[in-house]
Amino acid sequence: MEEKKVVLKRKKKLVLKKKAFAFLIITILTIIILTIILVKIILNSKKLNLEYEKELNVSLNDKITNLDAIRKIKNGKILTKKKKINTTKIRKIKVTFEVEDYFKKKTKYHYIIIINDKEKPTIKYTKELETEEGKELDLLKDVIVEDNSREKITPTIEGEYDFNKAGEYKLFYVAKDSSKNEAREEFILKVTEKKIEKKVVEEKKENNSNRNKTSKGFDITTKNGVTYIGGYLIVNKTYSLPSSYGNGLTGETRNNFNRMKSAAKEENLDIFISSGYRSYNRQKTLYNNYVSNDGKEEADTYSARPGHSEHQSGLALDVNTVDDSFANTEEAKWLVENCYKYGFILRYPKGKSNETGYKYEPWHFRYVGEDLATKLYNNGNWITMENYFGITSTYK
Ligand code: DAL
Ligand code: ZN
Repeated sequence: MEEKKVVLKRKKKLVLKKKAFAFLIITILTIIILTIILVKIILNSKKLNLEYEKELNVSLNDKITNLDAIRKIKNGKILTKKKKINTTKIRKIKVTFEVEDYFKKKTKYHYIIIINDKEKPTIKYTKELETEEGKELDLLKDVIVEDNSREKITPTIEGEYDFNKAGEYKLFYVAKDSSKNEAREEFILKVTEKKIEKKVVEEKKENNSNRNKTSKGFDITTKNGVTYIGGYLIVNKTYSLPSSYGNGLTGETRNNFNRMKSAAKEENLDIFISSGYRSYNRQKTLYNNYVSNDGKEEADTYSARPGHSEHQSGLALDVNTVDDSFANTEEAKWLVENCYKYGFILRYPKGKSNETGYKYEPWHFRYVGEDLATKLYNNGNWITMENYFGITSTYK
């Protein structure tokens, strides 16, 4: 019994010893692990913390240094000296810097600086340019383009303009640098009308007007394409009117016709205008119709070619019936004896077609004013304008 107790005691002691040993081992291991963790934490806290841009984009002429890419550094120091970077040219630069960490370990780092031109050129120019029609202007003459790249930039002009056409043109100067930065500036080109020269031309025209004389000594003058002989507008086969001439019967023609009409009425006669002013185009239609009906040669004996009709002058009119039979009417008889009192002439008298170029037209009257009308009436023996002034009436 005693022996059993002793054995039990020994066994207990052994178990206790074993437990103590295990505890010791665990404690030592724990301490080792904790120490490792602690060392790691300490080492980590002393680790180099470096942040920098791998690519640094800058503009031309920006002020930068070789260390500008570094954003953050902890547990270390930069060994590379700070120095300026030349940014006057568009290029890429590889930059190196050295860092020493907490543990005195030295490492080299690299990054790229890209120098770009982000600025557009500046254009120095005049906002408004002015010239006269026909006078060309060098629109680029005083334009200056400046750019940070210092490159030579030639500006261009955008927009349409015409130095020969008066007007206000909205245009642009455009300048592009080699990095495709573009500057656009609006300017106005005023092309003014050529007033002074126009006047000179008109004066010249007037001075150039023919101051010739007819076979009977009357002055022949032309003004704006219209011929005046002895001061009277003349239109016949020799002398034509510009196609744009005329815009109705003249006031004098109409008023004097009305006076004549009233006088005729007193005699119980009725006269009226059956054809007054005729435009160039109207005459063209008429004449062409006559030509297609009667042929050119015949038409030319009674119808004026466009530009050659007295009707376009606004001074001539056909009365009542445009027919040979009109000559036998009381109205025609009265007119031939009285029209001159109102300033009208029988323009194409009987038997004078070799002078006037046209057959007898008892209905066609021309206003010339009382003075000349009285002379041409010639006491009932009508003189033609052609004969009186000494001019022809033939087509060239
Ligand atoms: N009948 C005249 C001549 C004219 O056509 O003007
Ligand atoms: Zn007529």
